[in-house]
Amino acid sequence: MTAKPQATTPDRVVIFDTTLRDGEQAPGAAMTIPEKVQIAHQLARLGVDVIEAGFPISSPVQADGVRRIVQEVRGPVICALARAVDADIQAAAKALTGGEQTRIHTFIATSDIHLAAKFASDRYGRSMADKRKTVLSMAVDAVRQAKAFTADVEFSAEDAGRTEVEYLVEVIAAVVEAGATTINLPDTTGYCVPREYAAIFESVLERITLPEGVVLSTHCHDDLGLAVANSISGVLGGARQIECTINGIGERAGNASLEEIAMIFQVRGDRFGLATGIDARQLMATSRLVSTFSGFPVQPNKAIVGRNAFSHEAGIHQDGMLKSRETYEIMRAEDVGQSVESIRLGRHSGRHGLFARLQKLGVHVPDAEREAVYARFVTLADHKKEISDSDLHYLVNVPTSEAKTPHYALDFAAVAVGTDREPEAVVRVRHLRTERVIERKATGDGPIDALYRAIDHAVDERHELVNYTIRSVTEGADALGEVSVLIGIGGPCFAGRASSTDVILASAEAYVNALNAVAAHRAEEESVRFVGDGIMRAFGG
Ligand code: KIV
Ligand code: ZN
Repeated sequence: MTAKPQATTPDRVVIFDTTLRDGEQAPGAAMTIPEKVQIAHQLARLGVDVIEAGFPISSPVQADGVRRIVQEVRGPVICALARAVDADIQAAAKALTGGEQTRIHTFIATSDIHLAAKFASDRYGRSMADKRKTVLSMAVDAVRQAKAFTADVEFSAEDAGRTEVEYLVEVIAAVVEAGATTINLPDTTGYCVPREYAAIFESVLERITLPEGVVLSTHCHDDLGLAVANSISGVLGGARQIECTINGIGERAGNASLEEIAMIFQVRGDRFGLATGIDARQLMATSRLVSTFSGFPVQPNKAIVGRNAFSHEAGIHQDGMLKSRETYEIMRAEDVGQSVESIRLGRHSGRHGLFARLQKLGVHVPDAEREAVYARFVTLADHKKEISDSDLHYLVNVPTSEAKTPHYALDFAAVAVGTDREPEAVVRVRHLRTERVIERKATGDGPIDALYRAIDHAVDERHELVNYTIRSVTEGADALGEVSVLIGIGGPCFAGRASSTDVILASAEAYVNALNAVAAHRAEEESVRFVGDGIMRAFGG
């Protein structure tokens, strides 16, 4: 494996994107491998320096995801996560094999709180001092092992934000000596406040002279809503890499949001004199892609990429804007890829209008997919008066179904409801192996219950509906509704998603997609998404 450490200059901040690793750890955000690959290509277009593509030891799907990204995505360094143990490092190295620029990111906890809980057994030492010695030597061994596979090795002191500084410095000095080229000091629990977090970096830099090319990194969680502020503060304290995610998705309250960080350095260049390699015009397209594939909506008032981030509602603001945009605007919508279009797209728009708008939005459509995108546009335009930019993002980024060879297709679904009757559904499900079409009816506690009972009859199985979510992915009364379902079969859960302007149809198709995932799981255990899989196990030790 060939690799080189990340080159930096003092005025450049390395953007390390962990949407596909820490971001995907957000409960319910699991993505399919093709979706991850598509996001990784978009991150490369966005200009991130490092993509943390996954945690290979945690599940075969994670390992495959990293492998595919290494094979297909060019530009950024591709990184894989590993605990400070041999098997993890081997798994990370294997998944990164053949990559042009690869990084192994190994981590171990350093705070007393974590040591007491996770290294409680006497085999790690009886006293805290002994446990600290064990952890330090595990960290050094892990970095040395990783160095055998790649020159670019990152070490994270998990829970650095609550680690005693003297010990933290000792660990950092040892792993740098062992060859770590990036030292990440995560505020794992989102506990720090900005001055405090900056002081950690300052203390480290006062006590250790880092060799040329070794970079300190921030990694902040948003439990107190301070992830972005802390990341910037870490940079003021001397860090030159920021770990962050698109839309701030991630464990619990999430991670520092990449789009906010990128725009802070762009808009307030005067204050920091630091730059990132991010092409801000790609931010909106990236945000929408991640929102679609993770199933996490972006709140309308979200900074930079929220729908309202550039709308001025109050009369006094509108008046000011008309006089001079500078009155209430510190950046322009078009700078971040939000469009300010007056031309409406609808049923009468042609290919040219569609692709010109997509290009303006920074949405990349591979040549091979143009006709399929146009066909989806025409179908949607038949159902919607006006196609919005959110519709367009969604049309291009249709979530992929995990099942390569589906077992079932929905031919027809209808539900009769009324104030004076029990909801009744009728469905026709095609069994693709036999081409038999089975029609079934059912009643239920509500329209969706009736629908899902009817589908269960048609496939002759009973499934537990673990979760059902419906959200409007675009605006207006004729908005596209996206339905996500999670079904259980007495053990693992399987996800299905679908979207349509008709929510009954989207609900039925999402359920059938989940059934296809179940069927594929039975046929080929490795290739399905097992929601809530080994990541949790790996973190649990
Ligand atoms: O939050 C954290 O400490 C992490 C590490 C694995 C880097 O995500
Ligand atoms: Zn984290």
